Amino acid sequence: MTPGVRPLVAGNWKMNGMRGSLHEASAIAGQYDWSLRRAIDLLICPPATLIAPISRQSIGSGLLTGGQDCHAAASGAHTGDLSAEMIADAGGSFVIVGHSERRADHKETDAMVRAKAEAARRARLVAIVCVGETQAEREAGKTLAVVRKQLKGSIPEGMNAATLVVAYEPVWAIGSGLTPTAADVAEVHAAIRADLKKLVGKEEGAKVRILYGGSVKPSNAAELMAVENVDGALVGGASLKAADFMGIVAVYRK
Ligand code: PGA
Repeated sequence: MTPGVRPLVAGNWKMNGMRGSLHEASAIAGQYDWSLRRAIDLLICPPATLIAPISRQSIGSGLLTGGQDCHAAASGAHTGDLSAEMIADAGGSFVIVGHSERRADHKETDAMVRAKAEAARRARLVAIVCVGETQAEREAGKTLAVVRKQLKGSIPEGMNAATLVVAYEPVWAIGSGLTPTAADVAEVHAAIRADLKKLVGKEEGAKVRILYGGSVKPSNAAELMAVENVDGALVGGASLKAADFMGIVAVYRK
């Protein structure tokens, strides 16, 4: 946690979810009660096909929606792609950029991620910029160097706490059931915080939310969310079921 910073818990549904998942989304919205709404922002990033219906059915609940990726351009001849403006048009207010699965499967570079984060700001979406080391990089002692390089390369100039969220997601922790120790998370988040103050300015950098992601579940959420500079979670597998996701969110119930 960072004093004075409102946490964000975000669900990344990845390529999971059909129309039937609207039930899970409405169960999540239904459990996002006033005490939680006072405490945190709650977000689901479903597949693009579900952004509009979930946004529509969540009106009045406070539950936010977002995309999992966007193209850097606003429109044009880019078959199969989706612009940040389209996500906003569908009711989204956030977009994840630079997730390690995009970086690996679609060969996205830091420069491409930065252009997508720019696009998010242009469309008035909050960009959730993901960074994180692979297992080999961790074993080689390169974690901080890798994360800091990704951060520097992926964040556009002129971002602030209202336009940017950073998610630290060790690649080896995603979907594996493995997590770094609280001390390891603290070390990386402290480095990200220090760099953010240089990249976006001292005042804004102190307020940018830094999420932890990678095998967050109800049983480990309390420990991970209590770490200094951890301002919420980016949750994959455990965000697909309302019971699991809200079990994580419950950490923020006072
Ligand atoms: P996981 O995924 O929670 O299933 O590990 C996290 C993510 O990839 O954002």
